[in-house]
Amino acid sequence: MTDTPILPMGYSAVPAGKVATVVTCLEMRARPAPRAVNAGTLRLERWHRPSLEQYRALFRRIGADWMWVSRLVMADAELETILHDDKVEVFALVDGERPAGLLELDFRQEGDCELAFFGLVADAIGQGAGRFLMEQAISKAWAAPIQRLWVHTCHLDHPAALAFYRRSGFSPYATMVEVMDDPRLTGVITRDAAPHVPLIEP
Ligand SMILES: CC(C)(COP(=O)(O)OP(=O)(O)OC[C@H]1O[C@@H](n2cnc3c(N)ncnc32)[C@H](O)[C@@H]1OP(=O)(O)O)[C@@H](O)C(=O)NCCC(=O)NCCS
Repeated sequence: MTDTPILPMGYSAVPAGKVATVVTCLEMRARPAPRAVNAGTLRLERWHRPSLEQYRALFRRIGADWMWVSRLVMADAELETILHDDKVEVFALVDGERPAGLLELDFRQEGDCELAFFGLVADAIGQGAGRFLMEQAISKAWAAPIQRLWVHTCHLDHPAALAFYRRSGFSPYATMVEVMDDPRLTGVITRDAAPHVPLIEP
């Protein structure tokens, strides 16, 4: 039997096999002024009714190190219903011929748009592609009759993400704590993914 550690006041232990994260919800209620961005070799392509396999492959490639797993564990029928809904717009960011990122805008809630997924492949990060993708996201979202564009991010996402969203015009409005099964231990992503996040071995 292992001894239960004595925790300082206000702290809660994360059980073995779980991972904890703080989630921040952010929103913008008016379209920000457009920014000039240099597209270079980048282009955004609408991805109509993507195959689940191809979608999950890009999702995994972008998100494994940030522990994106929601779309990997979702039942096929449920994911297909979302991705094939006319009110959900999926885009692939392409650099030349190489996939560089994923953008998903969800208009299913009337008056709202959720920036449901927003991310770049590892070798596209930190070179201006994020700003290009955000300008596209904002422009496409606010082209629809919405009152609010919102997003949530957590501290398992890229460490620059929260500040990037705030610089993009989003303001935080809610904070939540999430405790989930560590997907590296359940086999959803590989055990060596997200090496910066310690495993709490059962
Ligand atoms: C969050 C994320 C999209 C941010 O993208 P990024 O590549 O770091 O962002 P960029 O390099 O485009 O932009 C960062 C800043 O550097 C500037 N910049 C960097 N390199 C540049 C270049 N070569 N040319 C022009 N500007 C450049 C950008 O203009 C931007 O400045 P600004 O915010 O003041 O406009 C990216 O880190 C990512 O995809 N991470 C993994 C997935 C993830 O965590 N997604 C968020 C989940 S909610």
